[in-house]
Amino acid sequence: MILPVIMAGGSGSRLWPLSRDLMPKQFLNLDGKSTMLQATVKRLKGLDTLPPLVICNEEHRFIAAEQLRQIQQLDNNIILEPAGRNTAPAIALAAIAALKKGLDPLLLVLAADHIILDEQEFRRVVSAAVPCAQQDKLVTFGIVPTAPETGYGYIQAASALDANQEQHVYAVKQFVEKPNLSTAQQYLASGDFYWNSGMFLFKASVYLDNLKQYRPDIFAACELAMENIDPDLDFIRVNKEAFLQCPDDSIDYAVMEKTDSAVVIPLDAGWSDVGSWSSLWEVSEKNTEGNSHKGDVLSFNSQNNYVFAETGLVATVGLENTIVVQTKDAVLVASKDHVQDVKAIVQSLKKSG
Ligand code: GDD
Ligand code: MG
Repeated sequence: MILPVIMAGGSGSRLWPLSRDLMPKQFLNLDGKSTMLQATVKRLKGLDTLPPLVICNEEHRFIAAEQLRQIQQLDNNIILEPAGRNTAPAIALAAIAALKKGLDPLLLVLAADHIILDEQEFRRVVSAAVPCAQQDKLVTFGIVPTAPETGYGYIQAASALDANQEQHVYAVKQFVEKPNLSTAQQYLASGDFYWNSGMFLFKASVYLDNLKQYRPDIFAACELAMENIDPDLDFIRVNKEAFLQCPDDSIDYAVMEKTDSAVVIPLDAGWSDVGSWSSLWEVSEKNTEGNSHKGDVLSFNSQNNYVFAETGLVATVGLENTIVVQTKDAVLVASKDHVQDVKAIVQSLKKSG
């Protein structure tokens, strides 16, 4: 039995000015069809799963519930965190809630803010991963790297576990979260590393056993925070006082770098974590000039731009390789090569209040 666990508690500040504290990336509609959270739920259709469990910040409960209602996803639970403590605790809350229902399902841990172009292939690879997870492995989904990105985890594959299977599965030799640039360059050149996609498949109990072993402090804080919850409520509120005491850490550092039960299954399904405006441009539909336009946009002699107009008309003339995002109270104009620095703008805005 698969329980999709959708992590929707991040901020996605590199997509400013569209992403805001009140409207983070996972709740945005970037393709004009559905929000990223809705797309995450929709791509599960065709897989045999329980209704998804969504985990987000308390302050986003109405946005999350409304977006699920819009796509007729009504029988889900939403776990509400009083504050973000990163993904290791978030997944622990989901695992504990599942066990409290008397189940020990396979948790299919998904980020609510990824794009996957080939949904059928995604579902095929998830199904192929099920037998490994049933054998108490922590399954990661590996993406063939194309650049020495430092914002990803890197997974070194060991020899294939079962060469006879149609779908290769490799033991993990090494998992390194967000290496520095020179290390990432070495990994890329070596050819035996994958990017960690940030999606996982494992038994709820196996995750908790690993967490208990490597981060007993996080495990204990999450157990305490879930002590008195009712796992069948639509909104599951964790104990605030207990959860605020929980250390902050991601699953990648807390468990994946340390465990010896990890395996990696390659995933080639047009995955992107849409970490920046330029990566969004890369996966968006473009016209013959390489421009991706959202909203009311006119362009003349312009190439390879991403232009988003929220209100009114935006026009570009002789513009190249540029991101233009216009919203009702802010405009971003950025060179495509510098989009990672959008995060710095958000930080300086926060500082200046
Ligand atoms: N509920 C909840 N609570 N969700 C959270 C929290 C939290 O405190 N923090 C982050 N999330 C959600 C985010 O919304 C996102 O969907 C997902 O968890 C991953 O968090 P990110 O903050 O986006 O992680 P990352 O992108 O830096 O790194 C992870 O993903 C990469 C691939 O995109 C790691 O797993 C890397 O190893 C991986 O390569
Ligand atoms: Mg991310």
